[in-house]
This record gives sequence, C-alpha cells and structure tokens, in this order.
Amino acid sequence: MEKIVILTGAGISAESGLGTFRDKDGLWAKYAIDDVATPEGFARNPVLVHEFYNARRVKAAAARPNAAHQVLARLQRDWPGEVVIVTQNVDRLHEAGGAQDVIHMHGTLAGALCAACGHRWTAPEEMDTATPCPACTRPTARPDVVWFGEMAYFMDAIYDHLAGCSVFAAIGTSGQVYPAAAFVNEATAAGARTVELNLEPSAVVSSFDETRFGPASQIVPDWVADLLEGPR
Ligand code: APR
Repeated sequence: MEKIVILTGAGISAESGLGTFRDKDGLWAKYAIDDVATPEGFARNPVLVHEFYNARRVKAAAARPNAAHQVLARLQRDWPGEVVIVTQNVDRLHEAGGAQDVIHMHGTLAGALCAACGHRWTAPEEMDTATPCPACTRPTARPDVVWFGEMAYFMDAIYDHLAGCSVFAAIGTSGQVYPAAAFVNEATAAGARTVELNLEPSAVVSSFDETRFGPASQIVPDWVADLLEGPR
C-alpha cells in the first residue's frame, strides 16, 4: 500500500504561536545564527544559548497543536498505508496533536544532551551552565537540538522512507536548509508524487509536482481530505 512521507517545518507551528525563522519577524531577524545555533556560539557564550532555548522551551510547552498537526495525526490513523512524519521542528506539537513515531531530525527542546559524555535525558524547563548531567554529574548540559555544522539525526531511516514512498509532502518549510531541502529530489527519484503546502513558494518550489499555498491550518486539512476522500 502507498507510503506517504511528510516533511514539516516551522510554518506548520506558526498558527500555534511559535515563531518561524526566516519570515520578516522570524527568530533569525532577532538573533544571529552563529551566536545561538552553532557549537562555536555555545562554547563562546553558553549563558546566551541557554536563555535562547529556555525561552523557546517555555513558549513551546504552552503552545497547542493547530488543525494542521491534528489532521496529520488523523491521516496516520485513516490512511491504509504507512504515514511517516519527519519534522525539522523542535517543538512537540505533532505529538500533542496525536501523531505517532514522529522523526525529529533536528532534535527537540524537550531533550537535554551532555556535551561531555553524550548522555541524553528529559530537559528541565530551564537549563543553565550549572545544570548537572545525571550520568557524569558534570555541568555540561546543552539542548539536544542539531546546530548548524552538526549532523541531522536519523538520516539513514529518513532516506529509507523516502526511497519507498509514493507520496511526499513538504509543509511549512522555506526549503533553505539541507539535507531536508533535498528530500523532494529523493522522493522524485523514488517515483513519488510530490506536493508543497506552504504560505508562499519555497526556495525549492519548482521541484514539486503540485503546490498549494495558504495557511497550514486551512490547506493541510483540504489536502488530507482529498487524499482520503478523493479530490472534490
Ligand atoms: N502556514 C504555512 N506555512 C507558513 C505559515 C503558515 N501559517 N507561516 C509561515 N509559513 C512558511 C513560510 O512562508 C516559510 O516558507 O513556513 C516557512 C518557514 O520557513 P523557515 O522560517 O525557514 O523555517 P524552516 O524551513 O522550518 O527552517 C528549517 O532552519 O534555522 C534552521 O533548524 C532550523 O529547523 C529549522 C531549519
């Protein structure tokens, strides 16, 4: 039966009140990537990086899934084949909306990682430079998110899913960050039908067979209805 692979980005959580990165009022308009989203930035100023992620962790914990998150969970339940959600987002709104087995290729705000011993645990709501690692007790906790210059997580599994999918959708992502921006090419090579669902054309819009523009909370339910009930 047909496997659907869905890639999501910050745009799917925008209507839940979480900021995107590259929109005019996005996070990268307020913070320098080098300062808060690189290992060098963390080494240079860990206090600033903890403050940046603590604020995002608190905001994400208070956010609620929107209709787009919820309808993707319905698609996972009602589609006769496998539906795999790969997200670049570090919030857990897909899970809050009922989705299963979400692949977080950029990690999650809910995760903590020990920069010294590699131990992973559930992050406290706020971390700082004194937060001890539960395994090695050293004060070397960092957010378990993938920074620029670091390898994205679960790539082998993601490429396996892409190689076997017959439908690929990218939702709420600007297509400016790799390897995610090239997933559409992998899906096309596997013979999949590809669709971009976004507020505006992404940097890789020309790679898709179909495009649907608008807010995710409106266009994603329409797309799922067309998949489950056939185009109206
Ligand atoms: N509905 C649908 N799409 C939306 C909405 C909305 N309500 N609001 C914004 N968008 C779209 C924007 O048009 C944009 O194309 O979502 C996209 C968000 O793009 P980015 O801010 O670049 O976010 P994303 O693509 O997820 O960034 C990828 O970059 O900084 C790194 O690690 C970070 O995971 C992130 C990665």
